[in-house]
Amino acid sequence: MIDRATVERIKSTADIVDVVGDYVHLIRRGSNYMGLCPFHNERTPSFSVNKQRNFCYCFSCKKGGSPVNFIMEKEGLTYHEALLHLAKKYGIEVEEQELTDEERERQSLREAMFVANEWAKNKMERDMQDTDEGRDVGLRYFTERGVTDAAIKAFHLGYALDNGHELTDAAKKAGFRIEVFKSLGLVGTSQSGRDYDRFRGRVIFPILNTSGKVIAFGGRDLKGGLAKYINSPESELYKKSNELYGIFQAKASIVKEDKCFLVEGYMDVIGMWQAGLKNVVASSGTALTDGQIAMIHRFTENITLIYDGDAAGIKASLRGIDMLLSHKLNVKVLLLPDGDDPDSFAAKHTPEEFRQYVAEHETDIIRYKAQVMLRSVKEDPQNRITAINSVVESIAHIPDQVARDVYVQECSAILGIPETTIAKSVARVRFGLVEQMKKERSLKNIDSDAPQSTNSPISINNNVLTPNVDLRPRSEKGADRTALYLLEKEVLKYCIRYAFVPFCSYEAFDEEHPEASPEIVDLDVIQYVEEELIQSEMQFSVPVFIQIFDIIKNLRFDLNRQLETYETELNTKYDDLLKKGYDKIAESDMSIPKIEKAELELKKELSESRENDLRLFLKEFAVRELCSHEDDKVRRIATELSFDKHHLSNIYLKGGSSETEEEKLTVLLVRAIDEWKDEIINQKIKEVYNKLKEIAESDSVEEIKDLQNELASLMSVRKEMGRIIGDRTISNRKI
Ligand code: UTP
Ligand code: MN
Repeated sequence: MIDRATVERIKSTADIVDVVGDYVHLIRRGSNYMGLCPFHNERTPSFSVNKQRNFCYCFSCKKGGSPVNFIMEKEGLTYHEALLHLAKKYGIEVEEQELTDEERERQSLREAMFVANEWAKNKMERDMQDTDEGRDVGLRYFTERGVTDAAIKAFHLGYALDNGHELTDAAKKAGFRIEVFKSLGLVGTSQSGRDYDRFRGRVIFPILNTSGKVIAFGGRDLKGGLAKYINSPESELYKKSNELYGIFQAKASIVKEDKCFLVEGYMDVIGMWQAGLKNVVASSGTALTDGQIAMIHRFTENITLIYDGDAAGIKASLRGIDMLLSHKLNVKVLLLPDGDDPDSFAAKHTPEEFRQYVAEHETDIIRYKAQVMLRSVKEDPQNRITAINSVVESIAHIPDQVARDVYVQECSAILGIPETTIAKSVARVRFGLVEQMKKERSLKNIDSDAPQSTNSPISINNNVLTPNVDLRPRSEKGADRTALYLLEKEVLKYCIRYAFVPFCSYEAFDEEHPEASPEIVDLDVIQYVEEELIQSEMQFSVPVFIQIFDIIKNLRFDLNRQLETYETELNTKYDDLLKKGYDKIAESDMSIPKIEKAELELKKELSESRENDLRLFLKEFAVRELCSHEDDKVRRIATELSFDKHHLSNIYLKGGSSETEEEKLTVLLVRAIDEWKDEIINQKIKEVYNKLKEIAESDSVEEIKDLQNELASLMSVRKEMGRIIGDRTISNRKI
């Protein structure tokens, strides 16, 4: 448990741009920042970060939220752990109560696995430095290969002792559940049922995720055995195709240099890192995947692939090109002299020489491909068409039209083929690709949050409009539920976005003293909606909507408490500004009347600005709380509803003529509630009508009569609603 004040402190200290910036390369866009979403693979940025609201959101996958949510989602942490993570980042001290046995029990397998990996990493690091075998075999190997102490430390290199049971025994002794070690592939079980170390007599390369947690290990053989490297198997923590070796050590330099080198192996990363080219990661010997490319793309748009200059290297360099290009990355290739890999090349040259070699030899990938292809064409004219088609295919994968045109031009020169011929082929391939993408996209995007039950407690025995009619919907039809769901969602949207913003005032007469002048009562958005729902005896029917609405209502207490402090702060701030403003005016050599006028204007301006600050505070209060709520579902829906494209576009539409949502709020909210009411009534009418049809043949006259009365009553309510909402909604419906 973390005490409340500390939680508040963590939440108010954590800055969203800062927190997200650790994972995503952000670009400023107006008052926001945009970047590639870290939660799904994408090629064009739809991840928005709003500094003022301390909030992030992906328009595409709809993930995001406060700094706490972001960390929860990104690091796979619980709410509690995410707070601790942020506290650590910002150096906020947290006094925690000891975990109870039960809580420890509840720790997820995932956490236990992280702990086990971290422990194993530490042990193997220590064993390399502190044991004779470790020093004689492991450390010696690294030293002989020229690996520096700094690199050993930075990459947490270690050694697995050779006796076959070192780690297994130590883990058991330390009280770990050995099953966890098995799930991580650190411990195996022999056919006779004996547990043994999977890594032995090998130097160890821990694989860290972007935030520095150990997710897997690679172990290099030192004895000329069959498997040069063995690696951890895929696990809950390690999805090989989504990770890159060295990313944790490299990410800061990748952002700084705005460029990432991609190499093949563990030692290549370390070799280049030592040579001062620290923006380097390895795909660990496999072809690059979409997930890995997306990870790189979060930090930069520029990637240089480094390959050995031999035939195998050249072949490898041409693999996976189209995928890279379709991610809208600027891809370059660098071939090292035949026989060298980055590690050996770095060992032979000074950092300056390495950099110079890069500058002189890295080639744009399409140009490179065209050149390589041209060479093969010369050797084998029959492959000419295949080669050209292959280049065309690559160009077609580039999302940017201008870039495609440039390449068409260039490749026509290199390949000696008319520009129009290439352009036409590219266009044709591109068309096919786009069609395919559209198809893939349309398979997604289905709202899965329809209300779970229609037997929910909606009733709208509105005393004014509907005497004695039970309006609880009994319909089970999916379409009806979806309609209701959407209408409720619309109302809830305004509740979240404008929760405590003043909405309307009315004159309340004291019934006992009707002669007294009425009291003016101000309602904010939540109070207004509450009042409306009570009056019409309506309720949200979707469970999570009910939950969210309750949470907001319960926030009022907190709000009042914080509002007092906030207003004091505001007063201080604006008093200060006013004083400074007055001083400035006094210093100027204006005439007295002019000074008076200037002072008046200043006062007005500042008071408006203060109003705005306050309004923003009221507006953001619920959003902030909801979007960092512990409950996943609450958070997800609140995040989605509090931040949509339309909302954002209003911010961009500066000077645009259209009114903002906030300006139109009165109309929008009232209409949303009316339409919701209307739908309930319509569903009810449909039901009664259907029932009437069903029993029309029977001779239960009484029942028919009852239903007819009910129907008539409903019809009159609907008519009344129609008058309120306007004929539009009514005439659209049929029963
Ligand atoms: P390399 O064979 O190029 O190894 O494989 P390397 O990194 O240059 O290692 P040294 O210099 O010989 O010590 C490149 C990468 O492929 C993966 C590893 O990630 C390795 O770093 N690999 C290779 C395996 O996973 N298993 C293997 O058996 C071989
Ligand atoms: Mn090597």
